[in-house]
This record gives sequence, C-alpha cells and structure tokens, in this order.
Amino acid sequence: MTAIRTILGIESSCDDTAAAVVQNDRTILSSVVAGQADLHAAFGGVVPEIAARAHAEKLDIAVAKALADSGKSLADMDAIAVTAGPGLIGGVISGVMMARGLAAGSGKPLIGVNHLAGHALTPRLTDDLTFPYLMLLVSGGHCQFLTVHGPDSFTRLGGTIDDAPGEAFDKVARLLGLPQPGGPALEQEARKGNANHFALPRPLLKRPGCDMSFSGLKTAVLRERDKLVDAQGGITQQNRSDLCAGFQTAVSDVLAQKSRCALAEYLKLNPENPALAVAGGVAANIQIRDALQSVSMQARVAFTAPPLALCTDNAAMIAWAGLELDAINHHGLIPLIARPRWPLDATSPAMLGSGKKGAKA
Ligand code: KG4
Ligand code: ZN
Repeated sequence: MTAIRTILGIESSCDDTAAAVVQNDRTILSSVVAGQADLHAAFGGVVPEIAARAHAEKLDIAVAKALADSGKSLADMDAIAVTAGPGLIGGVISGVMMARGLAAGSGKPLIGVNHLAGHALTPRLTDDLTFPYLMLLVSGGHCQFLTVHGPDSFTRLGGTIDDAPGEAFDKVARLLGLPQPGGPALEQEARKGNANHFALPRPLLKRPGCDMSFSGLKTAVLRERDKLVDAQGGITQQNRSDLCAGFQTAVSDVLAQKSRCALAEYLKLNPENPALAVAGGVAANIQIRDALQSVSMQARVAFTAPPLALCTDNAAMIAWAGLELDAINHHGLIPLIARPRWPLDATSPAMLGSGKKGAKA
C-alpha cells in the first residue's frame, strides 16, 4: 500500500466558506462549511462584495476548525488545495490569498483546483467510481454534461444556454415569495402541490443534442403568477404549491430527457464504462435524483449520487480534487491565479451568453 497522503482543502467561490482535511484513502477527517445565507437574505441573492468580506473574516476560523477536527496540524499536510475559480472573484481571491499565506508559512505545496472539477470528481471520493464516467453537474451557477476522463481531462457534451437550474429554482422561489436559497424551500412547497395544474413548458426538449434552457420556464411561472394576481388579486397557498410542483417536475423532465441524450452520446464512445453520476447543489433534490436514477436503470447504466452534504459546495471535494492532481504530479503545471472564468473543457464551443471573454465554465 502506498503512503497515505493528506490534503487541506479550501473553498470560497460562492457563499460558503469551507475547509476540510481529506486523505487519499478516501477518509474525510474533517469538513467545515460556514454558510452566509443570513448575510444575503435581505437582498434576495448573493451579494459578491458581502460574500468576499465574509470569506475574509471566516476563512481562518474554518481552516483552524478543520485542522482541529481532523486531529492533525498544518505540518501534517502534504499539500494545500484551494479553489482558484470559476466563481465570484472576490471570494476566490480571499481563498487563494489564505492558501498562499498558509503555504508560505509552512513550506507546503499549493494546488489550484477548478471548483467544477471538485464537483465532478466527488463520485470518486464517495463511491470509488473509475474513469471514464458521464457527469451531470447541476448547481446554482452551472449545468453541464461532462465525460470525466481523468482529474484534469473533461469533455463537455452540452449544457444550459441560459440559466442554471439552481438559479432558476432560486428565482422562481423569489417570485413566489419563498426564502433563499430557493431550491430546498421550493422542493418542500412542491410536496403539497399538483404538478399538472399549470401547463409549463419543457424548453429545447425536441431539439437534438443535450443543450438545455431554463430561463423560459422561469418566465412561464412568472406569467402564470401574474395571471392569477390579475384574476384573483393574489395567489393562494395551493396555487403556490401547484406552481412549485409544476416547475420542479418540468426541470426534472428536462434533466431526465437530456440525460438520455447525453448517455446515448457518451455510450457511443465509452460502451465499456456505463456510468452516470450527478453532483452540484440541485442534485440534492429528491425528485430530480429519482428521475435520473430511473433513466440510468432503463439504460442499464450504474448511477451514483453523492450524499447531499457532498453535493452542495464543500471543501472536502476540493481537497479530494487536490489529492487526484497530487497523484498525477500535477503540481505547478498551471499557474495558481484566481480566475472568475475557467472552463473545464477549453475546446468546447462558447455557449450563448458566455460574453466577450469566453465561456465561464
Ligand atoms: O453546488 P451549490 O452548493 O453551489 C454552486 O452553485 O456552485 O448549489 C447551490 C444551488 C442553489 O441554487 C440552491 O437553490 C440549489 O443548489 N439547491 C437545490 C436544492 N438544494 C440546493 N435545488 C433544488 N432542490 C434542492 N433540494
Ligand atoms: Zn458548486
């Protein structure tokens, strides 16, 4: 057995300040996640400036707690892995500066990790999945199908051309008066609703390929809400539950159908490795997980969904991605700079809405 390697991971690319200590035998010695929901609640979404300041205040506490919980010291670490992008740049810089400081003080090597690679490699931490596999990465900022060939090798098969599903969950929750983050609140509300009461669209379902769109679906919910407000002066509790159930079912249908397309494309090239994994915050949604599981069963493909706490943002996935890069001696191959944009597959064509500076992720 090769020697155990241990890495401290740091994550601060959105609104969770996180630190974790993970070993290459897949033991998570500690994982600390300090959310900032209370700081952003009054604004109805994450405010980048507030997030950056909160990360700067909370990072050293999170790192100290992660080390203390793990029973190890900084001197016991083999390296420090930090999210270097993509994300809100102020938060990413806070994490990178913290990691640079720790590395300078301890002499430990630094590994810059792509946040999306952290999500995409999580099924190897939790389930020892072998390469290659098909990954549906579905979060607040991202939605894409990736063939994961290795820790630094990904092929993008398709993704959203506008909103990410988590973003759509958050916006629909907001327009129906539910608290943020909208995903869990909307899921709870949907349990009491009738998904068939309102006819909501399934965008791009008939278009070949595995690109998706969620922005029109969000607008359709807005229109239904406004029609109700015009007709009856407001929306009832039951209207709200029905809209939530209808929206969640539409997202689930789109993700399921597009997963069938992505699987067909993936299996053409990788028939020996029939595996679909899901990660990212929206993978915490039970209806969506169940739908993807059914798609996998029908296609006779193994399905992996990490535990909920490792689907949403955390630093254990960053430490793990660091260990994977460490194992292939990736140190220093890419300069450690904070990047707001950092596509996993740089060869994939730019998406609609990716702007002059190219694809975000
Ligand atoms: O991966 P994540 O923690 O952060 C990034 O976006 O990278 O994902 C957060 C997103 C939020 O938009 C949140 O509303 C959504 O995941 N989410 C959910 C659920 N739990 C979190 N969406 C639907 N159902 C859920 N249960
Ligand atoms: Zn994330």
